[in-house]
Amino acid sequence: MEPQTSENASKLKEMLAVSPYNQLALKSIPHADKIQIFDTTLRDGEQAPGIALSSDDKVRIALALDDLGIDIMEAGFAASSDIERDTLKKIMDAGTNCTVCSLSRSVKSDVDAVIDCGLDYIHTFIATSDLHMKYKLKMTPEQVKERAVSTVEYAREHGLEVMFSCEDATRSDLGFMKDICVAVQEAGASSINLPDTVGVIVPQGMAYIVSEMSKVLDVPISMHCHNDMGLAVANTLAGVEAGASICQVTVNGIGERTGNAALEEVAVNLFANYGVETVDLPKIGQVSRLIERITGFPMAFNKPIVGRNAFAHESGIHVHGIMGNTLTYEPFKPEMVGVERHIVIGKHSGEHSVRGRLDALNVKFPEEHMPELMSAIKSIAIGGKEIDDAELIAIAEGVLWKKETKSNAAVLNSIAVFTGKDITSTATVTITVDGEKKTVAETGVGPVDAALKAIAEAVNPAITLEEYKLAAVTGGSDSICESTVMVKNVQNDGNLSVGKAVGLDVVQTSIEAMMAAINRDFSRQKSE
Ligand code: KIV
Ligand code: ZN
Repeated sequence: MEPQTSENASKLKEMLAVSPYNQLALKSIPHADKIQIFDTTLRDGEQAPGIALSSDDKVRIALALDDLGIDIMEAGFAASSDIERDTLKKIMDAGTNCTVCSLSRSVKSDVDAVIDCGLDYIHTFIATSDLHMKYKLKMTPEQVKERAVSTVEYAREHGLEVMFSCEDATRSDLGFMKDICVAVQEAGASSINLPDTVGVIVPQGMAYIVSEMSKVLDVPISMHCHNDMGLAVANTLAGVEAGASICQVTVNGIGERTGNAALEEVAVNLFANYGVETVDLPKIGQVSRLIERITGFPMAFNKPIVGRNAFAHESGIHVHGIMGNTLTYEPFKPEMVGVERHIVIGKHSGEHSVRGRLDALNVKFPEEHMPELMSAIKSIAIGGKEIDDAELIAIAEGVLWKKETKSNAAVLNSIAVFTGKDITSTATVTITVDGEKKTVAETGVGPVDAALKAIAEAVNPAITLEEYKLAAVTGGSDSICESTVMVKNVQNDGNLSVGKAVGLDVVQTSIEAMMAAINRDFSRQKSE
């Protein structure tokens, strides 16, 4: 079970830290060099409810999959439409290194549609479980076998290489499956696929079927595992261990219902645990993102290998470990699959993460103000918000501005803002200035205008608002905003004072900036 020794594989192997027990427990794969990736993103993947790809999209994806290094690409289902056939032709014209194939029911007209596209490889299927034969096909096992064999013969007569699938194999009678598969093998099928159509088998069951079928078959065995019970990848690997050599997969695991075995998970496991090199692993990230973007099919944040959180770390303990050695909390380095690590600053972050991030961003932040920065971060992130780099810088600056505002002569006791459609915004503030409490109400063109006017009025009518700026630090409605307020005090030689604040709430942050500007004005009066 030694990993392949190609130069590339050796480099990637150094990025791994999987469990040493795997090597002791897993069976070796004598046919390691024959393992093939059969990608069906453009066929089963596209059948996922909610996905509809244009012809151009499919060609783009086909080229990316080819570049990734898959062996066989199921690029569509020729008989399904004229557009599908045109697309298959375009993919053929694009000239891929991998073999391009089309799905086909076990009917001659479907085979004709594949021939019409100029393909050399066809994947014919027919259901073999009692359930499907009785309720869907309404055919006897004998009729099913006759149809399977005659279709394979017809495709072979037209020069096509044939893969034959027993649909619902994992719920089919083993004796019947052996019988039909031996017959299609004799008819010229060059591989037999055993689909777990409804994702109902367990790894040991898959291994059993594959080893039973290999007793009667000489051609390579393929598996097509659905993920209804979360075992698609495990079943595929178990099938490989038992002797199967073709893994049907889709990028990001898309496909009917809960999808298929994910290409990236199968490929990484084959490499990490069996030493089998299939696709070009560092290209996985870019292909996965392309498929996500083009299909518009959102990937779960916690999707293994390529999900947004697959290499994201937030909690203090984990970030501390990662800073010492990334493998402490990662199974392998993200560059092995072309994705990036993210240190997320959020509710669970510790000082180590924040300091590490600031250093990485080249932001000099005084150690003595770290406690204030940590509490500012926690209060913003408490609702689960992730703080990105730009926001972290803004919060750090906000803490420093606050520190610079030495005076606390004006203290905001309370503020209530009333606003709405066709309602004049009104703000009522209570402020204590040098020990004296004052309550003032003001109206404005909006809640911020009303609040700032009320504050100025309560503190000192000689203070006027000269400038007000509000900026979202990043995109998104939950972005942190940065507010800058400039006030003028006519009683203080018309001096201008600036206050800044960062926060999540536009009105609150503007109020904080206003209070900072006012207190700055006070501190200047005192120091002059
Ligand atoms: O899931 C399935 O059984 C299929 C076959 C058509 C191979 O997609
Ligand atoms: Zn399927």
